[in-house]
Amino acid sequence: MSFVKRIEAIVKPFKLEEIRQALLEAGVQGLTVFDAEGIGRQKGHTEIYRGSEYAADMLPKIKLEILVDDSQLEAVLTVLADTARTGKSGDGKIFVTTIEGLQRIRTGETGSAALE
Ligand SMILES: Nc1ncnc2c1ncn2[C@@H]1O[C@H](COP(=O)(O)OP(=O)(O)OP(=O)(O)O)[C@@H](O)[C@H]1O
Ligand SMILES: [Mg+2]
Repeated sequence: MSFVKRIEAIVKPFKLEEIRQALLEAGVQGLTVFDAEGIGRQKGHTEIYRGSEYAADMLPKIKLEILVDDSQLEAVLTVLADTARTGKSGDGKIFVTTIEGLQRIRTGETGSAALE
């Protein structure tokens, strides 16, 4: 029994093209890209205004969604993280969930067969 996994990655926008190329070279069959904005633990940046701290500036990010067969997961995660990393704060997050249902609309193929 093989599982389909969904990788979601929030990354720096300027990295998108490099990541896209690396993922395709790693054998990913498709991906979806969303424009996003977000904050991490630095809260964007922090301002002092009249003695109070105002935080929570949202920074532009890209969110990627990639469906892979379980057998590809570790390799794709490695490529993704290595490509997205600058070593500075704000590099983003990657998270993985298990997909319960998947079908290719054109053919009705389901599960991993819908990715091949
Ligand atoms: N806990 C979270 N829940 C949801 N999204 C998050 C969370 N943390 C970060 N993100 C998303 O990831 C983006 C980048 O986060 P970021 O890399 O700054 O995380 P961090 O935990 O602050 O790590 P670092 O210290 O390396 O900056 C955020 O702008 C936000 O979109
Ligand atoms: Mg941060």
